[in-house]
Amino acid sequence: MAKPTTKIPISSIILDEEIYPRKGIDQKRVGIFAENIRDGFKFDPVEVEPHPDRPGKYRLLDGVHRWSAFKAVGVTETAAVIIKDLDGIDPLLYAAQKAIGPRQLTEDEARETARRAYSKNTGLRSADIGKAIGRSRQTVDSYIADLRAASRLGQDIKIFRMGRFGIPQDRIAKRLGLPQKTISNHSAKMPVLANQLNIDLARGFTVSQVAKKHNWTEPMVWSLALEGKEDLQRFKDLGWGLRTWDLWNWNDCDRRFGDDWPGRIPSQMIAHILYYFSDQNDLVFDPMAGGGVVADTCLALNRKCWSFDMDDRPDTRPEIEPCFWDVTDLKWPIKGKTKPDLIIFDPPYFKKQSNNYDPDTISGLSKENYLEFLERFFSLAHLNAKKSTKMAFINADWRDFQSTPAKNETRVNSILINDYLRILNQSGWQETHIFQAPLSSERFKTNVVSAMQKKKIIGVTSRYVIMSKKKAGL
Ligand SMILES: C[S@@+](CC[C@H](N)C(=O)[O-])C[C@H]1O[C@@H](n2cnc3c(N)ncnc32)[C@H](O)[C@@H]1O
Repeated sequence: MAKPTTKIPISSIILDEEIYPRKGIDQKRVGIFAENIRDGFKFDPVEVEPHPDRPGKYRLLDGVHRWSAFKAVGVTETAAVIIKDLDGIDPLLYAAQKAIGPRQLTEDEARETARRAYSKNTGLRSADIGKAIGRSRQTVDSYIADLRAASRLGQDIKIFRMGRFGIPQDRIAKRLGLPQKTISNHSAKMPVLANQLNIDLARGFTVSQVAKKHNWTEPMVWSLALEGKEDLQRFKDLGWGLRTWDLWNWNDCDRRFGDDWPGRIPSQMIAHILYYFSDQNDLVFDPMAGGGVVADTCLALNRKCWSFDMDDRPDTRPEIEPCFWDVTDLKWPIKGKTKPDLIIFDPPYFKKQSNNYDPDTISGLSKENYLEFLERFFSLAHLNAKKSTKMAFINADWRDFQSTPAKNETRVNSILINDYLRILNQSGWQETHIFQAPLSSERFKTNVVSAMQKKKIIGVTSRYVIMSKKKAGL
């Protein structure tokens, strides 16, 4: 049955190189088609799909030479089959299958198309690529052998990495879209994966050199380099001095751990929480993991870590499992009996970075709803914690001090440490320590500081780590 067609302007059609399987347009063919049009010959309609990024435009799936000939003779409109849903088929492969109808792809074009399609989706089967480009499965295998090997290695590194965090195999399988059997097969091979890196480390290459050479992250290589060492030795090797008192301040974040992220916290602070409140191999739970600094520091100090965030980055942070904490329907993201030894909870500090976060984050909530969210979260965490679980809650005072001299400030919009302590206590937690871990004030420009001083405005640099445990009997 003929597909329904629609008349669309030639100018709304775009040739998108990304989904065009040929090296170029055959001008001789265009010339012949142009002659045919002038002679009144009727062509089949072109096939297009709505352009994914440019509303009102279409990208060509079939009919590049016809479309070029229409343009050459000044035709302004053409009949087109508009395909709204390719049913999961890669548009490049769909276009290739159409292209080989009148003329096979050249060797170069077939190889290039197969590689482009596979790079975009490593789940594609050679047989399916072959069908689209008019080549056998074996030929496609040979076109993409190196890409497949690199993708398998990348996958192995992800499995190794997630295994290192103690993430169970069923969750690794779900996260990577692989059968669980594949994960258990790969897991058996994992020790071999680290061999070459361990050899390079033993030869005296630095952690950062080995990370670059093998395309691993630095924290992953640290986890190999520090294997078998006690915590204190790890602190020394990492160049982190150990604080003995309850004032924890650092001039900057250690850039080796965690990604550049709004509200990034120093890995040294996480290392201190881990050192004093957990042991090696303990399980740490990070519900709002952001740039992954907790996970990275856990690698350095040999703790297991389950991380979650609404921001999903499966390629670079497969260990941060996607999870949206919905204030109206708060659920623990994992099933099973395993409970964390330590929860490290570093949420957005109310409105502090709200311009840099998605509006759906909890920094988009009103003060009442933000505090209500925290109270519900603390209660849920309490339900899912062991008797011995500790919780580190990191937050800063929020004061509405913009342009307001200190003596005129009110408490209407502010959230201070005593508000957090109150809701922690209401939800079954008892604080044991309050560490002052101030934010750096160096980021303020001198002219801003002197304007604040003139107007008698007091800024905020206070940040706290409140350590809690479950109240006795609850
Ligand atoms: C302060 S940042 C964490 C920073 C992290 N500790 C670091 O140093 O990179 C807070 C994180 O909470 C996440 N977040 C906020 N509201 C959320 C929600 N309702 N569900 C899931 N994640 C949320 C944000 O995406 C953000 O990454």
